[in-house]
Amino acid sequence: MRAVVLRRPGGPEVLRVERIPEPLPGPGESLIDVTLTGVNFDDLEQRAGAHPQLRLPAVLGVEAAGHRRTDGRRVVALLRQGGGYAEVVAARDAYTVEIPASIDDAQAVGLFEQGGTAYGALLLAGRLRAGESVAVSAAAGGVGHLAVQLAVALGASPVIGLASTAAKRQFVKGLGADVALDPADPELAGQLREAAGGAGVDLFVDSVGGAVARAGLAGLAPFGRLVCLGWRPETAAADTSAVAGSSAAASGADADAGVVALTTAQLARDSIGCAGFWMRHVVDHRELLCGIADRLFELAAQGRLAVHVDRAVTLPEAGAAHAAVAARATRGKVLIDVRREV
Ligand SMILES: NC(=O)c1ccc[n+]([C@@H]2O[C@H](COP(=O)([O-])OP(=O)(O)OC[C@H]3O[C@@H](n4cnc5c(N)ncnc54)[C@H](OP(=O)(O)O)[C@@H]3O)[C@@H](O)[C@H]2O)c1
Repeated sequence: MRAVVLRRPGGPEVLRVERIPEPLPGPGESLIDVTLTGVNFDDLEQRAGAHPQLRLPAVLGVEAAGHRRTDGRRVVALLRQGGGYAEVVAARDAYTVEIPASIDDAQAVGLFEQGGTAYGALLLAGRLRAGESVAVSAAAGGVGHLAVQLAVALGASPVIGLASTAAKRQFVKGLGADVALDPADPELAGQLREAAGGAGVDLFVDSVGGAVARAGLAGLAPFGRLVCLGWRPETAAADTSAVAGSSAAASGADADAGVVALTTAQLARDSIGCAGFWMRHVVDHRELLCGIADRLFELAAQGRLAVHVDRAVTLPEAGAAHAAVAARATRGKVLIDVRREV
């Protein structure tokens, strides 16, 4: 089969298509003939060598849609061990769900991992209640654009999206956000408070860290919560006061990298909360995982949640797709159309 193989860490150019043997399914696994897989920000970090525990050579990719060999059913799977950038994957049955007829493969891939993350951040960690205000960083991104739509669908108000360019902010407003802000605004905390009606934001979903997370904390209302999903390595490096982690802790990367110095005294003084969310803690709860997938598929079928496909590249173009995400040049979901040759 064809697969994108990572033999050494490096830039996007190290991602090369090779012919390798199909994986052998272990107990509780099934082979899937892949139609679409997706690029996630974490894939870029794995490719660059940020996760030293990754055994090389490796095939990246934590999600795939396609047809299960045993019964031909159309399914989408989370691949905790990677392997998605390939024509065939061996997927854990426990992490696989059937795709309803009303949902196409592109929607299914975008909804399962990134939509599930948005759901977990808003509801499981963030405990969102209808009528609360929500702000989302990287709101035009894969997770972010679904978090914005989901917040709207769940009755949050106002919904505030952060994005780095005017074009992205326009996109975020098109998703239903009431306000779109520039994360580089030096007055971001004040802007967040003002956008939320003066008192502050009830729930800030952050995947950027550093100065954005600090502004998010400062912009919270009493009883407000910040949920951390991840951070950019360079924000971590630049932020020497950094403390707690989410995806870094989750991935085993530098446990000190990441977010923002925060004392328990500050939590008490401001009556605020801080939580993290990692999708990995959902996948082993089959009922929860299926419940989330059902809810997301239902909202998508109702037209209240839609994966915006930024691009669908071929396997040889996986490196170019990584470069585009790293350059912050994408909006919504980046897919790899595994069967397309050119
Ligand atoms: N905890 C979990 O279970 C989980 C699961 C999936 C993803 N995540 C995390 O969620 C975040 C988003 O992932 P994604 O795959 O959906 O990626 P993405 O949001 O599509 O892409 C990353 C976005 O982050 C923003 N960004 C800010 N600083 C950046 C920088 N220095 N370099 C590149 N981008 C920067 C950019 O938006 P602007 O240009 O608008 O700032 C960019 O578009 C990541 O931190 C990822 O690790 C967590």
